[in-house]
Amino acid sequence: LEGFFVAKTLAGKKVVLTAGPTYEAIDTVRGITNISSGKMGYALARACRDAGAEVTLISGPTGMAAPIGMQRIDVSSAREMHDSVMQTVGAADIFISVAAVADYRVKNRSEHKIKKGSGLPVIELEENPDILATVASLPAAPFCVGFAAESQNLLEFAESKRKKKRLPLLVANLAQHAMGADSNQVVLLDDAGAHALPDLPKPAVARAIVEHLTRLLPR
Ligand code: CTP
Ligand code: CA
Repeated sequence: LEGFFVAKTLAGKKVVLTAGPTYEAIDTVRGITNISSGKMGYALARACRDAGAEVTLISGPTGMAAPIGMQRIDVSSAREMHDSVMQTVGAADIFISVAAVADYRVKNRSEHKIKKGSGLPVIELEENPDILATVASLPAAPFCVGFAAESQNLLEFAESKRKKKRLPLLVANLAQHAMGADSNQVVLLDDAGAHALPDLPKPAVARAIVEHLTRLLPR
């Protein structure tokens, strides 16, 4: 009921949103992952739902329950996330890429548990598809919102990411500040410049992002 009194600024809009980490298997019991609680993505999915949007949440492994009032698709690897996004994004008005996608997957993944004693295992990596860049370059691309987690030179690195992926809106945050926390301090980057928000609980950050993106939507 928490979203009952929220203005339905996204009524009739379809939102596809990725959240959480991805998991890239090394063998049957080990893998490579990114640090991501999924809290920011889930908060944003709820904020979109509360604003009246029809939300599809494509989630890496977070351990969190599916929020009510939306469809959740569970994925593990970046390639699974990519495939789910491609299957759903065609109908979307808005794509929000909050997931901490692993940039690389294991090329020589073992179908059995790697055992000790036969020398040090060598893990070969290959690049994962950039889901957000792929969606943003579709001929009929939805309105795309990216996130940038940086550990330094926040505004410079984030703005160059926004330009490179050609995004109308990018949310920049310091990884060391945001990861796992219940609050986040972000800067919204769009064609008009940088808009810094105060340090706020993630649900409040999410509402501010929804408000901002609503103003940028083509009408
Ligand atoms: N992203 C994605 N698919 C990937 C990598 C990133 O969709 N394979 C998305 C993230 O969800 C985020 C944005 O791209 O919205 C930026 O992710 P980030 O890791 O900060 O940037 P990268 O472009 O991967 O560059 P780098 O990791 O080198 O900073
Ligand atoms: Ca990355």
